[in-house]
Amino acid sequence: MPTYTKKDFPVANVRRFLEPGPIVLVSSAHKGETNIMTMGWHMIMEFTPSLIGCCISAANHSFAMVRGSRQCVINVPTVDLAAKVVKIGNSSGRDIDKFAEFGLTPASGTHVRAPLIDECYANFECQLVDSSWIKKYNVFVFEVVKAHVATAPKYPKTIHYRGDGEFMASGENTSRYRKLFKPQML
Ligand SMILES: Cc1cc2nc3c(=O)[nH]c(=O)nc-3n(C[C@H](O)[C@H](O)[C@H](O)COP(=O)(O)O)c2cc1C
Repeated sequence: MPTYTKKDFPVANVRRFLEPGPIVLVSSAHKGETNIMTMGWHMIMEFTPSLIGCCISAANHSFAMVRGSRQCVINVPTVDLAAKVVKIGNSSGRDIDKFAEFGLTPASGTHVRAPLIDECYANFECQLVDSSWIKKYNVFVFEVVKAHVATAPKYPKTIHYRGDGEFMASGENTSRYRKLFKPQML
């Protein structure tokens, strides 16, 4: 077992260890306009229905678009899109058309009007089901109503943000501990 020497750590930075991955792209459509934002602050809230909590800053253009349309698509990019993911996060749909600017392809979904990003490994069509946390926490609770996932590779190289400009690309996979799980926890 490892032993560690520890020091006081700024509480505002503990997110660097807990932040859920992967970094995703949230696409939206509202009043004839489409947009994309980069998002790291998301949380699984339930299996069935499939609920995901997403923290979207009220300062973002996406906030008004998602709140107005009550829909979005959560797209999962891989490491080959990392530079675009950062640039999307560094710009606002108020100023540019991010699909055109970053050469991404909008595709139609089946359940929501928000566009899927074709170049992403997975696309989850989402419907807003609880808006009660938006005012207090900027948290939107979405239900995934349709999921599109690439058939290969089995383990996409997703990117996970460590803060301070550093990403971790997903790495080694192991099933070594699978036998320790209760079946209902898999
Ligand atoms: C790695 C990364 C993670 C981010 N995570 C979030 C997040 O979880 N929530 C959020 O509101 N903004 C987040 N941002 C910032 C938004 O992506 C950024 O403000 C975006 O440009 C908003 O675009 P919009 O004004 O077109 O909506 C993140 C940016 C980066 C680069």
